[in-house]
Amino acid sequence: MPAAPKPEILAAFEAAKGFMPVDEGLALYAAAVEAGALGLPLLEVGTYCGRSTILLADAARQAGVTALTLDHHRGSEEQQPGWEYHDPETVDPELGLMDTLPTFRRTLHRAGLEDHVVAVVGRSPQIAKFWNSPLALVFIDGGHTDEHATADYEGWAPHVAEGGLLLIHDVFPDPKDEFTGQAPYRVYLRALESGAFTELPSTGSLRVLRRT
Ligand SMILES: C[S@@+](CC[C@H](N)C(=O)[O-])C[C@H]1O[C@@H](n2cnc3c(N)ncnc32)[C@H](O)[C@@H]1O
Repeated sequence: MPAAPKPEILAAFEAAKGFMPVDEGLALYAAAVEAGALGLPLLEVGTYCGRSTILLADAARQAGVTALTLDHHRGSEEQQPGWEYHDPETVDPELGLMDTLPTFRRTLHRAGLEDHVVAVVGRSPQIAKFWNSPLALVFIDGGHTDEHATADYEGWAPHVAEGGLLLIHDVFPDPKDEFTGQAPYRVYLRALESGAFTELPSTGSLRVLRRT
């Protein structure tokens, strides 16, 4: 049986702002618990308001490791004012810019998971440039343009430890299903073509690859 979160963790996930459906969340959780057995940190690219982070944080707690979650907190293209995925509550009224960090911090605090997470605030490629330690799991759910998805893959996939997992969200092989572009699908194909990963069963748009 794959590991499953306790009802209160699942309830916190479901109550949090974000985009991940429950079936994908359960798959993320099970993968994170499994990867955490390597004794290395788990890393998420794309925190937003902390919905998926709740699951990574609880899996990290189970495994006795830390979950890192990275975001500049200014939102992706499709989350900006006037776009389909915009939520006006995420705008800092003083600056008039998106800022999802306060909501993320409240979400994590309410779920009782602050001690298991390190929030890294900044641009993914800028942080990846100086990152040099191995990770048990990398979950790519950041910007969905080719520029961002490619930079996330190139910046973070090399840090997945042997036996560790690379997860990619919003992979839509059929263009009629996609809602924010097919860049994650192209990155997923690239990971497979690299020969460095083998594919595990997927759930919805969540792909799970293991470093060989
Ligand atoms: C789809 S949302 C993440 C959703 C979250 N994982 C969840 O399940 O609720 C993508 C996030 O990636 C962030 N993002 C986009 N491009 C980024 C970049 N280059 N560096 C850091 N964060 C980025 C955005 O600010 C946004 O919060």
